[in-house]
Amino acid sequence: MPELSTKLRRFFGSKPTTSSLSEKQSAVKPTPTTTTPVKMSSTISAAQFLAAAKHRRSVYGLKNTSAVSDKRVQEILEEVLSFTPSSYNTQPLRIVLVTGAKHAALWDAISAAAEPVLKGAGEEVWKTMQGIFQMHKGAYGSVAFFDSANVIAESGKTHASAAHMFDEFSHHSSGMAQILVWSSLELEGLGANLQHLNAIPPVEEAIKKFLAVPEDWKLRAHLNYGDEAQPHPEVPQKLSTTETLKVVN
Ligand SMILES: Cc1cc2nc3c(=O)[nH]c(=O)nc-3n(C[C@H](O)[C@H](O)[C@H](O)COP(=O)(O)O)c2cc1C
Repeated sequence: MPELSTKLRRFFGSKPTTSSLSEKQSAVKPTPTTTTPVKMSSTISAAQFLAAAKHRRSVYGLKNTSAVSDKRVQEILEEVLSFTPSSYNTQPLRIVLVTGAKHAALWDAISAAAEPVLKGAGEEVWKTMQGIFQMHKGAYGSVAFFDSANVIAESGKTHASAAHMFDEFSHHSSGMAQILVWSSLELEGLGANLQHLNAIPPVEEAIKKFLAVPEDWKLRAHLNYGDEAQPHPEVPQKLSTTETLKVVN
């Protein structure tokens, strides 16, 4: 859908903002802005937004190439970071982009850390998972989504009545960023799939060490991406909305 993709590219093209702890504090109680807000409703409709979101699929057949430059992917990540919501605007989200040979080396590190754990579960488990790791290694890039545990703990102090909720809130917020990044990369023509290596604690540690991220960062999800090596999948079958939707009016 090139026309929609162009519109979304315009949507994602504005200047990203940066975040800092002090800015976060002021952002909790936003100061009135003097600039005229852009009326997005005149640029893109809900139907277009949903059609764009519906294009996102889990794509596992990926090449070790990307028709989209690292710079453009970085711009998308900056844009997503600039507006993704978080509880009280506390902004625990942290993202790392890894591409090319570093992506392949990351998957080697994941595989090495997982091997003893998976072999412990049985030689067959290891063989199956090794094949899956090789497949992911064969993609072009990774977007790793982390949350800062320090920010989550700090948020519990500044908003004590909701302290018990901030870890859960950070998962919600990360999921919102994940869907934005995943959808955006696929609208640029790439394929992507979402993985959870935090399921194996030594693997999360190996990823953090490889990426040299702060100790308090918690891995939430890992998006592999690259040029598609398979036809773009259809939406898988969903439950009837008679089962999943209730309207009360
Ligand atoms: C919260 C969440 C966790 C997921 N974790 C994984 C995962 O660890 N590995 C994987 O291959 N796919 C994972 N998926 C992808 C789902 O299997 C996939 O979204 C689902 O089958 C629907 O297909 P679609 O993505 O093409 O719409 C995850 C998806 C979600 C939303």
